[in-house]
Amino acid sequence: MDPGLPSAPDRSDVPDPASTTPATGSSRDVVVVGGGIIGLTAAWRALRAGLSVTVLDPSPGDGATHAAAGMLAPVTEADFGESRLLRLSTDSAALWPAFAAELEAASGIDVALRACGTLTVAYDADDLVAARRVLALHHRWGLDSTELTLADARRREPLLGPRLSGALWAPGDHQVDPRATHRALRRVLDADPRAAVVPRSVVRLTRSGSRGPVTGALDDAGTTHRAATVVLAAGWRTGELLAGLPEIGAPTRPVTGQTLRLDAPDLDLAHVVRGIVQGRPVYVVPRLAGPDGRREVVVGATSEERPDDRRATAGGVFALLRDARVLVPGIDEAALVDVTPRGRPTTPDNLPLLGPTAVPGLVLATGHHRNGVLLAPLTAAALDALLAGRPLPASVAAVDPGRFDPGRTDPGHTDPYATPSSDPRPTFAGEPHA
Ligand code: GLY
Repeated sequence: MDPGLPSAPDRSDVPDPASTTPATGSSRDVVVVGGGIIGLTAAWRALRAGLSVTVLDPSPGDGATHAAAGMLAPVTEADFGESRLLRLSTDSAALWPAFAAELEAASGIDVALRACGTLTVAYDADDLVAARRVLALHHRWGLDSTELTLADARRREPLLGPRLSGALWAPGDHQVDPRATHRALRRVLDADPRAAVVPRSVVRLTRSGSRGPVTGALDDAGTTHRAATVVLAAGWRTGELLAGLPEIGAPTRPVTGQTLRLDAPDLDLAHVVRGIVQGRPVYVVPRLAGPDGRREVVVGATSEERPDDRRATAGGVFALLRDARVLVPGIDEAALVDVTPRGRPTTPDNLPLLGPTAVPGLVLATGHHRNGVLLAPLTAAALDALLAGRPLPASVAAVDPGRFDPGRTDPGHTDPYATPSSDPRPTFAGEPHA
């Protein structure tokens, strides 16, 4: 039986010698540590599987989810050396319409999934060379991506700036509102008596004995929340919570991204606009946001190897605005209403840690890096499979969540480029094996 399954016997009555806590909170089928889009998605899927669930997070949705722009961009986020991630991304993008429809039906909240396509523009001649290099990679991988003339690009997006050298078009890269998606997930949980969202931090997981199964999570008020299954979706902090589980390696770190939100009533953009400006990537995501459907654009994002101290930097904000106004000069007239720096949860290979672990009862759902919103439906599918005792989706199974466990001598990866016999899709050729 899969070690992560909640159908394991209820261990709430098993003494936990590792726990020094006097208080015992509720005992549920599943405890989810982390209330971002991934954690709440996991909790929702637990409910759908007929299980009770507690989510522990001092401020649900205020981590990477709060900064995310919501690009569903398997093509324009595809990068050299990341074909395994591309497989996850394309699979999850295909799941987004059904995921959004089901969530909207369950919550009554529009998550603003918009099939708008993505334009990428290059600023100078060197940027166009870089864009064409990426286009060649797209073609090698069979992705739907073409070069446009600037006239064509301006026909699609008349508000583009005057000084550009070229443009690409990715018709399948779309967007969704991450904050609305989180609100929808939260409403589903809040409406279900089998779910509890507890505003506490987790200080560590509890387990039975020193090598036994995980039995729950200890919060910062000294309460242990017991469960047969613990899903660790604590973003870049995940690694810190594994101190009592030396056999599990989950090296997560924050890669800080700053995003800006602008109130832009007159900026009627039809597409996500990405740019390469003197080598720097930047994006502008337009949407109708909030209950009143006001027009906003999200500008992002920095990518900084530094602690997530939640303070914006002058240089980061300056660079984003400077580069974004090359793409769309009209943002000069928009009101800057929100600056959000947050740490993306990132692993050494930029791939998520998703699936059951070597410790019974412990499931990882973290490390989604730049793709937490995009990968939410595939994470849901993985949880569905896990909770039902079915095999994980092939693209998820190909990325071993135990690949960083201490003592592993094999790379822990299956070959991502080989097409499984049951999977007729083409491989992403031309990438080295892991
Ligand atoms: N997915 C875009 C970003 O993380 O900036």
